[in-house]
Amino acid sequence: MPAPDLPAVFVLNGPNLNLLGTREPDIYGSDTLDDIAGRLEDRARELDLAIDMRQSNHEGHLVDWLHEAQASGAKAVLLNAGAFTHTSVALHDAIKAIRTPVIEVHLSNPHAREAFRHKSYVGMAARGTIAGFGAESYLLALEAAAGL
Ligand code: DQA
Repeated sequence: MPAPDLPAVFVLNGPNLNLLGTREPDIYGSDTLDDIAGRLEDRARELDLAIDMRQSNHEGHLVDWLHEAQASGAKAVLLNAGAFTHTSVALHDAIKAIRTPVIEVHLSNPHAREAFRHKSYVGMAARGTIAGFGAESYLLALEAAAGL
């Protein structure tokens, strides 16, 4: 268990990411979300950070958690909003509404996929984006968060 006073990084995951490991593994890889959480926790320990990893299939939960990140004084948010990335003005507005830096994360590279994935309402509001490196995208985003 990390010390409770370590700076927290929220890692928020949107719809269908609970199925990682079995969901289209040719695109998203074979790591489960728990596998990714474990790797993030190991790296966070070395960086003196605490990970708060969550997943929901519901847009409003993600909005609430973005607000909570700011209210709780989190250092940063890593956000893989799944398909809400491409549809959610509410997530865009929530990112704009908080001062906590938000880093957009994707396993795949949406720009190399279908045209409907090329627009990101999250990316338009986020501090930056890391995409296309599979589970490693989360680790790279954590490094970026540590450096903020
Ligand atoms: C994703 C990319 C999105 O386009 C897709 O809807 C997802 C996963 C990714 O991590 O590559 O659910 O966010």
